[in-house]
Amino acid sequence: MSGRHLLILSLALAALCGARGARAAQTVDVKQFGEKYCFSCHGAERQKGDFDFRPYAEKGFTPGERKTWEKIAELIETREMPPPKGKVKLPESQRDALVQWIDAQLAGSEAGQKNPGRVTLRRLNRGEYRNTIRDLFAVDFDPSDFPSDETAFGFDTIADVLTIQPLLMERYLAAADQIVAKILAGQKMAAPSESFRGDRMKASKGTEWIHPVANGVLGFYREADASLDVTFRSDGEYVLQFRAYGDLAGPEPPKLVCRSTARSSPSST
Ligand code: HEC
Repeated sequence: MSGRHLLILSLALAALCGARGARAAQTVDVKQFGEKYCFSCHGAERQKGDFDFRPYAEKGFTPGERKTWEKIAELIETREMPPPKGKVKLPESQRDALVQWIDAQLAGSEAGQKNPGRVTLRRLNRGEYRNTIRDLFAVDFDPSDFPSDETAFGFDTIADVLTIQPLLMERYLAAADQIVAKILAGQKMAAPSESFRGDRMKASKGTEWIHPVANGVLGFYREADASLDVTFRSDGEYVLQFRAYGDLAGPEPPKLVCRSTARSSPSST
């Protein structure tokens, strides 16, 4: 038997075992159960622990009362109820049956809708494909030879109409080859960059000691501060580079301190 067959077989076995483990809960007549095992202490005559089981047994499981049902399942499962010292004896099979029934009701109510419908497999449209490749691999790939995206209601992002036709599949495979080739060839896009000349900075301290020199250079003739507001359009890693030079006017070399202070943009606050 080949390895593959073996794998499939063991999967099938696992599925069978799984089905065994999650035995389908039998229907339980909760009222009858209560009469036999609970009402003597939680019924008309007595409500031990201030608990009357009759209305619950009457109505059966309701999602609004899941807390109580959880408690009941817990107390029965941990053999706290009926109290082990009392006269009422609860057979194990009955105990299991009720706990399983409650579990099934709890699980069912969690699933909420009985039929949520099918989930459509989504695919990217051409624009999304291009952006995704760029974000993942820093490679610019133009998918304009992909078949054009189907639209509905004026949108080209609707999963139900965006099909994967054989031609698209072929183009996907070809695209993958081209993209990998580009990555291996090191044809990555350069990270976007922006530069600012010194004279764009505004003096904030020691104003009188700051003057533009020439070619966009800003001269600091004594201790002074200048700053520039830069807007970062998106989150990410940024490399800040500063270019500066100094003329020696004495024995001590000039000093430069670069500081960045983050500030949220006025539009977002
Ligand atoms: C022999 C009497 C007796 C029987 C039979 C009995 N119980 Fe109890 N039950 C008690 C007593 C006494 C308490 C209070 C325990 C406490 O407060 O510590 C209690 C408490 C409870 C509580 C907790 C109420 C609360 O709000 O904390 C629940 C739920 C409960 N029982 C469910 C059941 C169920 C379900 C059955 C049937 C399988 C059952 N009991 C059978 C005596 C009994």
